[in-house]
Amino acid sequence: MRVLVIHGANLNLLGEREPEVYGTQTLAEIDAELLRTGKALGMEVRCVQHNSEGAIIDALHAARTEYGGIVLNPGAYAHYSYAIADAVASIRIPVIEVHLSNVAAREPYRRRSVTASACSGTITGFGAGSYRLALRALREMLEK
Ligand code: DQA
Repeated sequence: MRVLVIHGANLNLLGEREPEVYGTQTLAEIDAELLRTGKALGMEVRCVQHNSEGAIIDALHAARTEYGGIVLNPGAYAHYSYAIADAVASIRIPVIEVHLSNVAAREPYRRRSVTASACSGTITGFGAGSYRLALRALREMLEK
């Protein structure tokens, strides 16, 4: 069971970026934790981060034949990227959208995700735990 975790825009700065919102863990620390969680769940996890929309779309396309599922945090692209939404809709493997922060409780423009409707489900507001929960959700989906 191979899973790709795609971190989107500005998530490379986790740890120093608005720690009161996104926590103090760096992306490298989160990724190391996800690899461990994946291993415990019997999943092979790979993590990538891209700031540009096109690179995220390319990663989604490339993953469709290589992975069983995807965990995607598009960052702010979630709120306006129809191109990423189309890319998710174009591939057949399940994609779970995650957000560290509880976007439903933040600024109005963050309350809407245009990418979420193309995804199998969304997990938001649990900090780095959102990614771990998404791995568990994917495992349940892929086991069926
Ligand atoms: C985020 C939420 C987005 O609104 C924001 O633009 C991000 C991070 C999150 O993980 O909470 O970059 O996706």
